[in-house]
Amino acid sequence: MRVGMLTSGGDCQSLNATMRGVAKSLYHLLGDDVEIIGFIDGYKGLIYSDYKIMKPKDFSGILTLGGTILGTSRQPFKLMRVPDANGLDKVKAMKDNYRRLGLDCLVVLGGNGSQKTSNLLSEEGLNVIGLPKTIDNDLWGTDVTFGFQSAVNLATQTIDCIHTTAASHGRVFIVEVMGHKVGWLTLSAGMAGGADIILIPEIPYDINIVADAIKKREKEGKRFSIIAVAEGAISKEQAEMSKKDYRQYLATREYPSISYEIGAQIGKITGQEIRVAVPGHMQRGGGPCPYDRVLSSRLGAAAGQMIVDGEFGILVGMKNNKIVKVPLSDVAGKLKMVSPDDEIVKQAKLLGISFGDE
Ligand code: F6P
Repeated sequence: MRVGMLTSGGDCQSLNATMRGVAKSLYHLLGDDVEIIGFIDGYKGLIYSDYKIMKPKDFSGILTLGGTILGTSRQPFKLMRVPDANGLDKVKAMKDNYRRLGLDCLVVLGGNGSQKTSNLLSEEGLNVIGLPKTIDNDLWGTDVTFGFQSAVNLATQTIDCIHTTAASHGRVFIVEVMGHKVGWLTLSAGMAGGADIILIPEIPYDINIVADAIKKREKEGKRFSIIAVAEGAISKEQAEMSKKDYRQYLATREYPSISYEIGAQIGKITGQEIRVAVPGHMQRGGGPCPYDRVLSSRLGAAAGQMIVDGEFGILVGMKNNKIVKVPLSDVAGKLKMVSPDDEIVKQAKLLGISFGDE
């Protein structure tokens, strides 16, 4: 049996742990009867036939290693049907390479965009298995994605560090958390780090309500406030803009990111000293936390079993701590977002955390 493997899109901490899980289970089940081909830099390697024949030793010692031993790149789904600069039909090239290499299956470790492409390849007749990667936790069909918990740990550590300096100086601090268009990472890290205000894309904020929450804390004698802001957070006015107007606003915004805009506005309204901290790609760095190592190992092992059983066209996910097999066609194009009615949001509000909405 020949199995192709690739890591696609933004990296995260637990990609190697997941590939190791797939490989170990395949070697366990098939011994020498399986060969794994690793494509370099994601779909790019499959398109341009850049690959490496992997050996069992390649998967040793990588459980705790961050990044990806195969490399990754962003190959936008919307450009997959657009020929490259030399007129190459990318989808045809991927299919041709899959067939030429005699693959029985392709394992794609990727997030939303990558799984849209994996679904496309599955619809084109390839045997594909998806594994849910992303620090954003926004992949539909699974409770949790690998990489998320490791990123929560890092974003929380940032908030913890900011706490001590904010308390010493009596400042308002904004910590900007990644997460693309969803607020899972900010919500988790914000709660874990004891943020006073959490702003996420799914719950548009009113800047005056945010400022009121800070003033209230000041009146209560609190010297500092911490605001966890998702990189995709939006105000109520911005939420009402058309997509085109919002894009235009983003393109011409005078601040490097939403946190600086919020910081300037709050500074003006409250007169308080504001600082912004942006941990950025540190949130994707380093090795996987123990939770992710276990999650990745379980997802990888389950994928190995599915390959042997000939089950394809599926994303291997986790629901209620049990492996689920979700058709890629169900996953493609959907985002898993925080709902303002989710229990976790209600409980955060019970703790007195403001979301800037009411
Ligand atoms: O999807 C993971 C993610 O880290 C998002 O949270 C963030 O918006 C984006 O990738 C950053 O992308 P890049 O690494 O291409 O700058």
